Amino acid sequence: MVQAEGTLAIVIDVLRASTTIVTALGNGASAIIPLATVEEARARQAQEPHLLLGGERNAHPLPGFDFGNSPLDYTPEKVQGREVILTTTNGTRALQGAHQAGASAIIVGALTNRQAVVDFCSSWDGSILLVCAGSHGRFSLEDALCAGAIIAGLDPKLRLTDGARTCRALYEHYGAEQLPSQIASSDHGLGLKGKGYGPDVVFATALDVTSLVPIYRGGEIRPLEG
Ligand code: MLT
Repeated sequence: MVQAEGTLAIVIDVLRASTTIVTALGNGASAIIPLATVEEARARQAQEPHLLLGGERNAHPLPGFDFGNSPLDYTPEKVQGREVILTTTNGTRALQGAHQAGASAIIVGALTNRQAVVDFCSSWDGSILLVCAGSHGRFSLEDALCAGAIIAGLDPKLRLTDGARTCRALYEHYGAEQLPSQIASSDHGLGLKGKGYGPDVVFATALDVTSLVPIYRGGEIRPLEG
């Protein structure tokens, strides 16, 4: 993790953790509790049995969990008013990494809440750090495109790093209309489709469908109050 102290960190894992978090909170979950490991998640749920348990390893749900990491699973019927523990391979680790690196505020960014994140950034007077979760430490096209889509909406007078300029150029090269096809043909997009999660990829590439901004504070993610 680069220097994060004092920044607003926007954690992005389009496929699928950040999309799942935005969706679950939008469907009425009261909080998401991101934990890095399956063991931590199970131990926490054993201590607090009222919590629901969600997450994946190798993209699939884990034995005994209430949900996998499919945003489509987190329906209002299942999550309304509930707190959900979430552990995923890359996304929840990226959230914890931003916290441990000292970010002043941490929000969750996806394509589905892109404009809401942009609007929140306009009220932030300081550095902004886009944290692309990637995949096992490697670059992910979908996260870079989401970062680029956010950057393209920010004040053009902001000074951008080379990485930020590259993400914006990538997004501008494809444009919003090509996001679904480019992400569907990305490494992770194809991998998820091959495992039967193609509908998640389609769902995650919809732009600006919610104004919800999840904020991570005190070990929990909740919707930012209006
Ligand atoms: C992750 O956090 O690594 C991803 O969300 C994996 C997945 O697609 O489930």
